[in-house]
Amino acid sequence: MKKILLVAATVALSIGSVQANPYMALGCAGCHGGAGQGASAPALAGKDASWIVQQLKDFQSGARKNATMNAMAGMAAGQEQAIADFLASK
Ligand code: HEC
Repeated sequence: MKKILLVAATVALSIGSVQANPYMALGCAGCHGGAGQGASAPALAGKDASWIVQQLKDFQSGARKNATMNAMAGMAAGQEQAIADFLASK
């Protein structure tokens, strides 16, 4: 019984953190790594939050061009700061 409760609590916790964390929810981790450590795409962990927000805005406006990121940054609209804070804390 204790084990079942523990599993239920762990599942609830991980669902909660996905919702609270647009970086994970939007699939950014698939290319940039679960902790922003970099994978097929550049590392973002520990970057200055304001710099990350600016890159996302530049991808959105087209001032910075990359087909993948122009699309991904559009999906992140309104959540730039939450994403940047998450990555800056890594
Ligand atoms: C399909 C793969 C992929 C996904 C998914 C993806 N990215 Fe990227 N991202 C890239 C690539 C490739 C680059 C490098 C673009 C370039 O060379 O300009 C990049 C660049 C970036 C940069 C600039 C990094 C630098 O060093 O200049 C930021 C910030 C960023 N991505 C954030 C995100 C966020 C936030 C998400 C989720 C909303 C996301 N990315 C999802 C592939 C991806």
